[in-house]
Amino acid sequence: MHESYKKLFEYNRKWAADKKASNADFFANLAKEQQPDYLFIGCSDSRVPAETLTGANPGELFVHRNIANVVANTDMNVMSVIHYAVEVLKVKHIIVCGHYGCGGVQASMQKQSLGLLDKWLKNIRDVHRMHHKELKTISDSKAKFDRLVELNVEEQCINVLKTNYVQTSYLKNGFPEVHGWVYDIHDGLLKDLELDFDKILKDLREIYALSEG
Ligand code: CO
Repeated sequence: MHESYKKLFEYNRKWAADKKASNADFFANLAKEQQPDYLFIGCSDSRVPAETLTGANPGELFVHRNIANVVANTDMNVMSVIHYAVEVLKVKHIIVCGHYGCGGVQASMQKQSLGLLDKWLKNIRDVHRMHHKELKTISDSKAKFDRLVELNVEEQCINVLKTNYVQTSYLKNGFPEVHGWVYDIHDGLLKDLELDFDKILKDLREIYALSEG
């Protein structure tokens, strides 16, 4: 018998009671609306819990997670999330957060088929191909793996910037800003890749601009 899932319900009841005890209107206020400032796009990996590692409370993060934090323009799921976050919620920041030790990124470096996953991981092989010249110069396999994790975050940030909603809102309103982060599962710390957002957008718009301006 696998009854360990019951502990999730037990925890949930305690959590809800604690929240209500410290603020009687906690759920009533949250139920009215959400106004998160951040869209967090991360990996599904159980060791990278968006809210826990940022200390975000309910109502603060709009979250999308998939294997290896991929932003593919053919993925209706992530595209819908970005659209809603930008157009309706008007988030101020979009964070793409990868992590060292990412199984998805690692799998994309193997000469091995994983069935359906091959199609998804092809997105990361594409990143590898785009940066093949740099990655080829790294002989240490862990260093190469870490670098591909970082480059994958950078390219997925670029994919966010390619969307019409993000470009239009940023040029009109000055937000959302796009940030590339890497979480280190070995020490629990986030690293900001400090991507030059303005430069990336300017370069991108030579080819990907979907409006004048
Ligand atoms: Co991962």
